[in-house]
Amino acid sequence: MNRLVVVSNRIAIPNGTKASAGGLAVGIMDALKTTGGMWFGWNGEINEIGEDDEEMNVFEQDNITYASFGLNQNDYDLYYLQFSNAVIWPAFHYRLDLVNFQREAWDVYCRVNRMLARRLLPLLKADDVLWIHDYHLLPFAAELRKLGVQNRIGFFLHIPFPTPEIFNALPPHKELLEMLCDYDLLGFQTESDRTAFLECLSFLTLMQSKGKKHTAFGKHFITGVYPIGIEPDSIKEMAEGPLPPKMAAMKKDLGDAKNIIACERLDYSKGLPERFLAYEALLENYPEHRGKIRFSQIAPTSRGDVQAYQDIRHQLETEAGRINGKYGTLGWTPLYYLNQHFERRLLMKIFRLTDIGLVTPLRDGMNLVAKEYVAAQDPRDPGVLVLSRFAGAANELTSALIVNPYDRDEVAAALNQAATMPLNERISRYKDMMAVLQKNDITHWRKTYLKDLLAIPARSQVLGEAGKVATLPRLA
Ligand code: F6P
Repeated sequence: MNRLVVVSNRIAIPNGTKASAGGLAVGIMDALKTTGGMWFGWNGEINEIGEDDEEMNVFEQDNITYASFGLNQNDYDLYYLQFSNAVIWPAFHYRLDLVNFQREAWDVYCRVNRMLARRLLPLLKADDVLWIHDYHLLPFAAELRKLGVQNRIGFFLHIPFPTPEIFNALPPHKELLEMLCDYDLLGFQTESDRTAFLECLSFLTLMQSKGKKHTAFGKHFITGVYPIGIEPDSIKEMAEGPLPPKMAAMKKDLGDAKNIIACERLDYSKGLPERFLAYEALLENYPEHRGKIRFSQIAPTSRGDVQAYQDIRHQLETEAGRINGKYGTLGWTPLYYLNQHFERRLLMKIFRLTDIGLVTPLRDGMNLVAKEYVAAQDPRDPGVLVLSRFAGAANELTSALIVNPYDRDEVAAALNQAATMPLNERISRYKDMMAVLQKNDITHWRKTYLKDLLAIPARSQVLGEAGKVATLPRLA
């Protein structure tokens, strides 16, 4: 059996302090738990090692080999903060206004990808299957191919892929696209992302396609859509059971008040200021809820070294204070804004306790919080999900109340509808969504992706006579 080698920018090392949060880490961990294999990536630490000091920490636990390394300050600044998170992240989330392109950062982004490919090379076996994740590593396959790696290399993009109008504004758009074509399989969260990628390619070069098989820049590759899922049973298990004493006291204290919960990394793509304004519109347009509803926003700091993230943090602090000052009373605080990290198990219990899950990103690859909120509910008395139409999850969770996050009155109306929804309708919507979550769970995501990747012949199996990779007749 082929070994699975997963590469992501940041890896979740057991007991590591800088573990990756969010869907990517959960999804990868689930895949590796089942298949075993290797997880290669940054340990989240910044150290003083030079470019060529290949200081790696390799250890095995529960059938998974963790191979990790630190980044030096310059690479952290230019590869991670600058190019990955101040160019690609905003552009891929349709925020060209926040893109801060510097040619030096682009050079370092490419150099770090090259360096990581060189570091991975000695750890690779001939029949390993490589699965590379996310936007930090767009050039990774191209660098491995330059080193002669013939293995199957798949890529999965966890975030949206923008349309050509946005993508082509990136100065190195052509280079990025050509590098992406060195992957054997390119996986996207939604059909719109896959289509956007192909449109970008056809704008730029002659592309031949036959179904999901394509040739561009003389390279053959396959594209597919694999919406990432969750483990509904394990979420349910975390959400059930006795409440910790503090939470039980809080529940008692809340009495009949309706509770709205929102939780995500503090990121401008998540639409937090717009959401605060929508909650204000609820209090304004439906005054009957005043004193009887509460909105808790959990938003731990993320990428706090990037200016745009510092700006949004200040904006939220101001808005939360303003709304509480305007509507609060001596006995009632309308909005709780918690700039803190919550342990996952506790979070699932909080989701179960609350009446409304409010998930309104302005743009999101998938958004697993939406899925987790549904899976955490009590089937006999489920809460209601209010979900942005711009989250990838809206393609699957069609029984949520789907809203446009830019329209605060529409979101307020959906919150009112959720707060007053009869039990039978809540149960029916919940059942529809659970059926989808069970079917498209995380195992389904991993299996369908890896099945497609393994179906592609490894380049080493079709070597040409001169020992060079033959042109694969994959379009036939
Ligand atoms: O896909 C985006 C993503 O990689 C998520 O999986 C995760 O929540 C987040 O970004 C992690 O960001 P960072 O490693 O920059 O803290």
